[in-house]
Amino acid sequence: MGWLLESTTNVYSATPASEVGTVDVVPAQYQLGQELYLENCSTCHIALPPAVLPTQTWKNILEDSQHYGAQLKPLIDPPRILVWRYLSTFSRTQLKDEATPYRVNNSRYFKALHPQVDLPRPVQISSCVSCHPSANDYNFRRLSQEWEK
Ligand code: HEC
Ligand code: HEC
Repeated sequence: MGWLLESTTNVYSATPASEVGTVDVVPAQYQLGQELYLENCSTCHIALPPAVLPTQTWKNILEDSQHYGAQLKPLIDPPRILVWRYLSTFSRTQLKDEATPYRVNNSRYFKALHPQVDLPRPVQISSCVSCHPSANDYNFRRLSQEWEK
């Protein structure tokens, strides 16, 4: 829902477009959800931008305490619902008959954001930073020198 729509509305914060490090500008009403997402989901690894996975994958992750071999303390409301609103707004749903990707490596939304990029196979959460040097600050716009054209 809302990807393109969100980025064309005028309600977002005063951050100049050049400083926005995420795929979409995040309007004020989703900023708390983003903060809670970063607080809860970037302690063991970098926070992935919602756009790289379909909404269904995020839903599964929030519902499951078994987390890629780790054990997660489930989020409780109100943070849970705020994080969900943030993730579901800034990701897209997949088509009806499509399999839900478990990992970024199998996500066509991730692939769509990387046209013509020669990605490591499999691409892992730990490899983002090699091309996105500010990935730890949740900035995926800044690229390493070899990619800045
Ligand atoms: C207790 C540590 C921990 C926390 C907290 C945590 N994760 Fe993870 N996460 C992991 C581990 C471990 C993996 C597997 C890493 C791997 O195999 O490369 C993982 C993998 C992932 C992946 C798959 C990455 C890929 O390979 O495509 C996603 C997506 C993800 N986490 C999202 C989240 C979200 C959303 C939250 C917050 C609700 C979260 N994580 C919180 C430990 C954690
Ligand atoms: C081999 C280098 C490389 C790796 C590894 C890589 N990326 Fe990228 N990424 C790029 C390049 C280059 C672009 C810009 C593509 C373009 O503009 O055509 C990009 C674009 C993006 C964008 C879109 C940014 C925007 O707002 O326009 C996101 C989000 C993103 N990458 C996330 C990730 C994540 C998350 C990972 C790790 C799972 C990752 N990338 C791994 C090179 C890489």
